[in-house]
Amino acid sequence: MRVPRLGVGLQFNPALIGWFPFFEQSLDAIEVLFDSVMAPLDGPGLMLPSVTDMIREVATRFPITGHSNYGGDFGFDDLASTAAVRRHVPLAKRLRVPWVSNHCFYSDTSWSNVWSSPLQFSRAEVERLALRARALQTFYGVPLAHENAAYYRTCPGSGMPEEEFLARLLERSGTYLHLDLHNLYANAQNHHRSGYSIARFLDTIPLDRVICVHMAGGRWINEQYHDLHDTQVPEAVWDLLDDVLSRANPGAVILEYEAEALRCGSETLDTARTIDGILADLDRGRTAWDRAYGHASRRTIQEEAA
Ligand SMILES: [Fe+2]
Repeated sequence: MRVPRLGVGLQFNPALIGWFPFFEQSLDAIEVLFDSVMAPLDGPGLMLPSVTDMIREVATRFPITGHSNYGGDFGFDDLASTAAVRRHVPLAKRLRVPWVSNHCFYSDTSWSNVWSSPLQFSRAEVERLALRARALQTFYGVPLAHENAAYYRTCPGSGMPEEEFLARLLERSGTYLHLDLHNLYANAQNHHRSGYSIARFLDTIPLDRVICVHMAGGRWINEQYHDLHDTQVPEAVWDLLDDVLSRANPGAVILEYEAEALRCGSETLDTARTIDGILADLDRGRTAWDRAYGHASRRTIQEEAA
């Protein structure tokens, strides 16, 4: 399957809508979170009426990629009954996304509060999930890329390193990877005592199957590092980006921020300062991309040149 090269973009997170000037930016891509725009499963609609016009406007201005958190992709419900198949697949076709990424954690239709519930890194789950991932990618008809998660505890029953699990999964499923570099960084902070190694992770996964990269920030709370997307991207994660761009060939680098970014380390909202921080990160991301692939490889540059 072919993956277009877009460049550096931003996640269209509902937490940013209303204060971040998306439409004033020259973004190479926008990543839409399907969960935040899909209509309820017990209704007839595909998209929430309240966001339809806004998404249409986004689509006229930027190339869109799709991301799924709560589709039940890796859960235990029959795949055909999941939000992934009933809403995300038709949304992906409506928005004509070049690929879809999904998060490597469990959920089902009865329980979607699954953030940071890591998959069980086991041989049995490689087999079960590979069948599911292959079938879901066929439904989408475009590459499906699995995002490595940040997690705070390992799932009971895990018997192999995460990177080996992902490599085996892709071998069997024919799907792709969405590499979140801040999730790697967060896991390295929290699991270094149990031997977690970013270098080993990157040497083990098939880098040629990485089709998108996520960048974000986070912070320490009570001796645990949290993937909160509430700060600028840390220096160490920028270093990882340079390394990965030199060894992989992703279609986009997407920056992620949450509303908490407004706090900037305090409880006082400071929108202007947060916008400046996001724009500075975007600039830095574009500089890294151009250093690796050249100015003309980014979509906005091509369009401006045309
Ligand atoms: Fe991410």
